[in-house]
Amino acid sequence: MSNDKLILEADSLHKSYRMGVAKVRVLKGVDLAVKKGEFVAIVGASGSGKSTLLHILGALDKPDKGVVKFEGRDLSRHSSSELNRFRNKMVGFVFQFYHLLDELSVLENVFLPVMAGKSVVGWFACRRWAKSRARGLLEQLGLSERAKHKPYQLSGGERQRVAIGRALMNEPRLLLADEPTGNLDSATGNGILEILEELNRLGQTIVMVTHDERIAQRAGRIVTLVDGKIA
Ligand SMILES: Nc1ncnc2c1ncn2[C@@H]1O[C@H](COP(=O)(O)OP(=O)(O)OP(=O)(O)O)[C@@H](O)[C@H]1O
Ligand SMILES: [Mg+2]
Repeated sequence: MSNDKLILEADSLHKSYRMGVAKVRVLKGVDLAVKKGEFVAIVGASGSGKSTLLHILGALDKPDKGVVKFEGRDLSRHSSSELNRFRNKMVGFVFQFYHLLDELSVLENVFLPVMAGKSVVGWFACRRWAKSRARGLLEQLGLSERAKHKPYQLSGGERQRVAIGRALMNEPRLLLADEPTGNLDSATGNGILEILEELNRLGQTIVMVTHDERIAQRAGRIVTLVDGKIA
């Protein structure tokens, strides 16, 4: 396996949380390599550190020790503005509880990442394109009829599809999903997994976290987080 095929490399990640006087060691030397185009599931019991790991991989949090490399570059060497750009452009996040903004319409939620990455002038220059891309994503996700709705007017499965649209808006190199079906019944969750599978067939690299082995089976590769390490 040549190194240029790797999109993401985690090397000996450590992370602890301090709770008063006690220190909870969550990650104790996690190593992980993800190739471009892979669909990897990370499984582990509740509390095993899956979300902690995913947040570190997406630069939402920092490890105490260890290195995350994205396309060969060490994230700890990025300036804070480079990290903001990384989070906005390179990775897309999908969360269990959607994290949509209820004040905005479905369409606005989807194009928000483009708006957030631009100055007022920059946004003005690209807003027609952004809105049309967002409409295209909603169509692809079967949500064309919901563009003007507010998230609270949608079902859970619809909300998660909106969140996937938002995550894809900036054409991220990597999609990170934390229990994307965790709040859905199994038929609706299955629809979300089918979307992820289809995105992966089209070339999207995906890292998904779940405590459910059956859901993990849908990925191309499963790694297990036990006792702070990848087993
Ligand atoms: N900000 C924090 N402060 C203190 N402890 C934390 C913090 N975040 C996580 N932890 C602890 O770290 C451990 C791992 O948490 P994490 O959320 O990564 O687990 P998880 O595998 O995602 O669990 P779940 O499947 O329930 O989502 C837990 O014991 C948790 O209580
Ligand atoms: Mg979690």
